[in-house]
Amino acid sequence: MTIENMREAVRFIQAKTSVQPEVGIILGTGLSGLANEIEIIDIIEYEDIPYFPVSTVESHKGRLILGKLGNKPVVAMQGRFHYYEGYNMQQITFPVRVMKLLGISHLFVSNAAGGLNTTFDLANLMIITDHISLLPTNPLTGSNLAELGIRFPDMLDAYHPDLIAKAEAIAQEHNIEGVQKGVYVSVPGPNLETPAEYKYLSIIGADAVGMSTIPEVIVARHMDLPVFAVSVITDLCYEGKLKKATLEDILVVAGKAEPKLTKLMKQMVERL
Ligand code: HPA
Repeated sequence: MTIENMREAVRFIQAKTSVQPEVGIILGTGLSGLANEIEIIDIIEYEDIPYFPVSTVESHKGRLILGKLGNKPVVAMQGRFHYYEGYNMQQITFPVRVMKLLGISHLFVSNAAGGLNTTFDLANLMIITDHISLLPTNPLTGSNLAELGIRFPDMLDAYHPDLIAKAEAIAQEHNIEGVQKGVYVSVPGPNLETPAEYKYLSIIGADAVGMSTIPEVIVARHMDLPVFAVSVITDLCYEGKLKKATLEDILVVAGKAEPKLTKLMKQMVERL
């Protein structure tokens, strides 16, 4: 993907909408309810946008929502792309590049994740404080897009400390229950992990495991976009609680947590 590809996608979107988004939001599996809080102005299908991949997962709609959330102009991705779908990392992260070029100043991300930390419960929200990538490759592989960022971007404070603090304050003020903080690890999937793998992921320092988010965050940080990210704990992956996880179960739990996530994200956007 070249910068010209990105600019073409941006021109296409700008021709379809007058919204100039300040915040970009990526909605995770079963977590698109936040879109209902957006005062929608325009919807653009991914398949219409030049160079945009098209989501192959049924639980992910593939469209860009442009509108207002808490009076701020936002762009939300309803449906994201995963490595296991067969896309390369540049394709997965193309929408983040495009959102940055559309003018966003912050990226907010959500995902569904398995809980590794034994203090976590179903439908908890985990504010991501750091990550471990176990993905086989990296979206910055290849020649550096120097117009967008530096060759060796720093990953300290990848998840912005002020945004984390703000989220904790909002959770307290609004009595949002079951809000945790922790480290997110990304695996390629699409199979879930073996019990031995869950144990390993916990030992290396992860609190939740999923199959997304890190590529988008790396690209956002490459472009110096501040990131705020939340995992919804949809299944428990530690001894004593581990059981077969089906997509149906994961979606049910994600649905339960969704009002909490929506409240938190809406407040975060309002208070930027
Ligand atoms: N692993 C385990 N459980 C999960 C995952 C995962 O990658 N994603 C959502 N729940």
